[in-house]
Amino acid sequence: MSLKNVRLEVMKHLEKDVEGLIQKYLIPVEDIWQPTDFLPDSTKDSFYEEVREIRELSKELPYDFWVVLVGDMITEEALPTYESWLMDVEGVDQVSRNGWSKWVSQWTGEENRHGDVLNKYLYLSGRVNMREVEKTTQHLINDGFDIGTDRDPYKNFVYTSFQELATYISHNRVAKIAKKKGNKQLAKMCRIISGDEMRHHHAYSDFVERIFAVDPSQMMMAFNDMMKRKITMPAHFLRESGDKIGTAFEEFSNTAQRIGVYTSNDYVDILQKLIDRWDIGNITDLNEEAEKARDYLMKLPKRMYRLSERIKIPENSFQFKWVDPA
Ligand SMILES: [Fe+2]
Ligand SMILES: [Fe+2]
Repeated sequence: MSLKNVRLEVMKHLEKDVEGLIQKYLIPVEDIWQPTDFLPDSTKDSFYEEVREIRELSKELPYDFWVVLVGDMITEEALPTYESWLMDVEGVDQVSRNGWSKWVSQWTGEENRHGDVLNKYLYLSGRVNMREVEKTTQHLINDGFDIGTDRDPYKNFVYTSFQELATYISHNRVAKIAKKKGNKQLAKMCRIISGDEMRHHHAYSDFVERIFAVDPSQMMMAFNDMMKRKITMPAHFLRESGDKIGTAFEEFSNTAQRIGVYTSNDYVDILQKLIDRWDIGNITDLNEEAEKARDYLMKLPKRMYRLSERIKIPENSFQFKWVDPA
């Protein structure tokens, strides 16, 4: 059987459990939080006062903080792009609505609230040039992306396991900074988003675990492939209006690194967490090539920590069109 056919078989085999996994890892619409739970209610007279408070508290947060929040929001708002990508993965059948495509839609439904709540908050904050932000979001959706996973479910689930943990870390750190500056409402909002990301991370890691149980060699090689080429953010093609594709991304990630929201050390920590979670070192039922991949992966974090120590981040803020200078 070809590798592709084996993957299709595995996806089909696991599909019978997906319904249960949706129940385990996602929350029904009637029970889950919605963006307005964390925003001023515009039907009430108290609205103006609450908005005024948001605007006052927003003045306490520094320039780099707003840049990071904007970049995070745009990443979340581009979710439709990721949905269409995942719908095209082998074994996910969008037309006949199998378990996998239901997972993808319902996951997207949860994710959609993240961009929504962040967008509304940024709009009310008065700190952000929303028109420039909106243009970047449209560019990002227009430009699409290539995360190097092809249509391979194994690689895609490694990617999402990684990415969900990365978004958990960054929303959680943003929450901590907001709390430190006395902005409890924003802290609460970002903390609850990070909670969603952690659930999603557990779900995708569970998928990978199940694949390891039935197709260990191919799963190991897919994990190795993804780590060798490095996991790139979905917002990798980020750009501001008038610029070339991807030009804003590096400065955005420098900014996140400078304020400690997401660093190159975090990248390696995530890799180590995945290695531990999937118990990579103890997977033995492997072909020769997969054994080599396992041994490579086991040594990778140590090597990467050494490299990340040497990375120098520019000290001064980069001027984005999204946020006016403080
Ligand atoms: Fe999200
Ligand atoms: Fe998520």
